[in-house]
Amino acid sequence: MTTGSFCLSYISVYFGLFILFLTKLQRETLYRLSVSYFVEVINFLELIMICKCIYLQLNGPFWIVPLGRRDERVSLLNEALSNLPPPFANIARLKASFAAKGWNTKELVYKRRGHTIGNAHCFVFSSRLYNFTGKGDKDPSSDPKYIPFLKKKCKPGDVTTLVEMTPGTFKSFDEAYCYTLITKRRGHLQSGAALLDDRQTRAHVKLQATAHGSTFFKDFAACTVKLSKVGVSQERLVKLGDIVL
Ligand SMILES: *[C@@H]1O[C@H](CO)[C@@H](O)[C@H](O)[C@H]1NC(C)=O
Repeated sequence: MTTGSFCLSYISVYFGLFILFLTKLQRETLYRLSVSYFVEVINFLELIMICKCIYLQLNGPFWIVPLGRRDERVSLLNEALSNLPPPFANIARLKASFAAKGWNTKELVYKRRGHTIGNAHCFVFSSRLYNFTGKGDKDPSSDPKYIPFLKKKCKPGDVTTLVEMTPGTFKSFDEAYCYTLITKRRGHLQSGAALLDDRQTRAHVKLQATAHGSTFFKDFAACTVKLSKVGVSQERLVKLGDIVL
């Protein structure tokens, strides 16, 4: 089965269950959950399933998603800024930020690998090219041969240009960012390069570099499932046993 047809059948099954639920709801009025409550849960599930399908389309891993978590009604920029480590975080800040959510060093390394897909704006790493310590210098931890390549893409003060995180393979879910680029000191973000600054994180990056990411998919999947459980309180868990057949 191709990943595309897998996604389609997955989504059809899920919509089938939703319709089934609606028809049951008309017959039986004793359901504890209101439709709006249910729809909210479904919105979250839909998001997760589609995300999963995107990973599959990019030749990425597959994982079983635990159901029943209720998502927030709103997304707040400030919460993201205060909970996520910034792209210029050093290793101490990265470790502290992950540890605050119950994540160990190994998981920190595996989660960073989400950067294998997508782009980064020039401004999140341009200080590493032009003015690292405020003296018009470059980040000495970067491969000096790679800096001209990035400078060509990002002129000083550029706030709009996007650069592929893993040039050439930014649309494919692979081990390139963490293993190939970071070990060659060609990670764009300071927070990626910082993984080489600590004995434990460096060991994980190097181990995977030599293994060519052989456990990459499995570990990434496990971390993503773990991520879906961060900060979920028991009171907010929805019991889906009654409605999902
Ligand atoms: C480099 O950074 C310093 C300190 O933040 C600043 O004063 C200076 O203007 C910057 N230089 C350039 C070329 O942006």
